[in-house]
This record gives sequence, C-alpha cells and structure tokens, in this order.
Amino acid sequence: MNSLKQMMNEIPVPRERLVEVLRVEGLSKTFQHNTHEVKALQNIDFTLYEGEMVAVMGTSGSGKSTLLNMLSAIDAPTKGQLFVDGIQTAVYQEPQATEFRRDTIGFVFQSFQLLEDLTVADNVAMPLILREEKSAYIAPRVDEVLREVGMIKWRAHYPSELSGGQQQRVAIARALIGRPKIVLADEPTGALDFTTTNTILDLLVRLQQAHRQTMVVVTHDAYVATFAERVLFFHDGQIVAEYTNAKTEADLTHILATFQQIARGEL
Ligand SMILES: Nc1ncnc2c1ncn2[C@@H]1O[C@H](COP(=O)(O)OP(=O)(O)OP(=O)(O)O)[C@@H](O)[C@H]1O
Ligand SMILES: [Mg+2]
Repeated sequence: MNSLKQMMNEIPVPRERLVEVLRVEGLSKTFQHNTHEVKALQNIDFTLYEGEMVAVMGTSGSGKSTLLNMLSAIDAPTKGQLFVDGIQTAVYQEPQATEFRRDTIGFVFQSFQLLEDLTVADNVAMPLILREEKSAYIAPRVDEVLREVGMIKWRAHYPSELSGGQQQRVAIARALIGRPKIVLADEPTGALDFTTTNTILDLLVRLQQAHRQTMVVVTHDAYVATFAERVLFFHDGQIVAEYTNAKTEADLTHILATFQQIARGEL
C-alpha cells in the first residue's frame, strides 16, 4: 500500500501555489548579421517555478540556446526584463552578470566542457574555487556530489580517460556542487547513445527530485522532453505551444505530433 507521503507526492501542486524562481517579460534578442538581422527571440514571456523541470524543444535556429544565454545573463537581450524570485533584477550589467552566473546558475553542456588538464575532482571543485570557498569545505563537498553521480572512484582520473556518459556525470556534479538555484542544460544527451541517454536522464531526474532542483533542459529529442514536467515549443524565436506531461505513454505521441506540426509550419 502507498504510504501517505507517496500519496501526497502524487497530488499536483496547484499552479497558483508554485513559487516563482525566474521570470522573463517581453524578452527579445536581435542579432545583426552583415546584410540582415536575425530575430532570435521575439517577445518571450516565461516563468520558471521552484523545483520543476522544463524541457525546451524547437527546430534548429529557433532560439533555444539564445534563451538559455538570456536566462543565465551570458548575453543581454535587446529588450525585456528578468525577475529573480519575483524581483526585477539588473543582471545584464557587470558585476551582477558574473555574480548571478556564479551564484545562481549551474550549466550542463552537450559537449561536457570539462577542463582536460584537471582531474575529475578538480573539475567538479571549480565553481566553489571561483566562489573562493575554503578548501576544508570544498573537498568533502566534491566527494559528496561525485558519490551522488556515481563517479567517486574516478576522482583522480582525467576527462580523457572517461566515456561520454561518465564525462557528463562529472559535468552534472560540477553543475550541482554549488547548489545553484537553477540548472540549465543545453542538449545534455545530444552527444550520447540511447542507453547512456537513459542513464543520464534518470540521473538528472533523480537529482532534480532529491533536491527539488529547478531545471531547464533544451532538447531536440521528444523522448528527452517526456522526462520534464512541462514542455515549451519554440519556433522562430517564439513560444508557439506548451504541454504538461501526464507521465503516460501519450506524452511522447503528443510531443512528437506537436513538433511535427511546428516543422510543417502549422503552429
Ligand atoms: N552570437 C550570435 N551572433 C549572431 N547570430 C546568432 C548568434 N547566436 C545565435 N544567432 C542566431 O540566432 C538564431 C537562434 O540561434 P540559437 O543558437 O538560439 O538556436 P537553437 O534553437 O539553439 O538552435 P540549435 O538547435 O541548432 O542549437 C539563429 O538564426 C542564429 O543564427
Ligand atoms: Mg542551440
């Protein structure tokens, strides 16, 4: 029989009781190319709630990576505002941009982006070193997150000695070590085979649930999007559809159908 706790977990939290973590309003980004301009994002409104995993899907060039760059203040929008915990925040100027990235955001990339000359443990420690944390705090915390991602035995190895899936585990440990409010992942399984994709997704979901970690995952892959709670569909720099996963087999069918409609220009 289900415990009361399990049953409580299955009751969805009404949207009005969700805690807002990050919100963008009227976000637009235009890039000037030599002969023309590209509207990479056009008037995006989007709210990210505490503890949820949101998948962002869209065709190539639809603005997904640009959105992550705006959410993490890697780049400034042409127009629009960003709110952190409901408060409008000037993150697009220095030093706030660097501090925001360092203190609030964890990144996971398609290509892992580990530093080849550093060991696994030193790669994972990097966000805390940048925050100038004391080594007495860093060392046990590195071991703790490496254990969580199943890579503790590899702590003294170098990235080139690891498989793609193992490198991504290390990159996930690095993204989580500083307990960032938000983790942004751009095609985290894009360079991995199907089986490894599954183990990495299971790991991300397990960590997300264990820590109520707010997460945005950009993906081309409808299957990957089924792991999220919500899916946003991008096309030509706009959000053209949204879907809340029911966590049934129907999700994959629905996401694929929506994606095909977008590709045919029907949305
Ligand atoms: N730094 C840049 N300078 C100029 N144009 C850019 C820049 N970054 C992105 N763009 C343009 O903005 C548009 C959106 O690009 P973006 O990288 O956000 O797409 P994406 O959805 O992440 O695509 P993909 O799935 O291929 O990664 C594209 O037309 C791209 O050429
Ligand atoms: Mg991209």
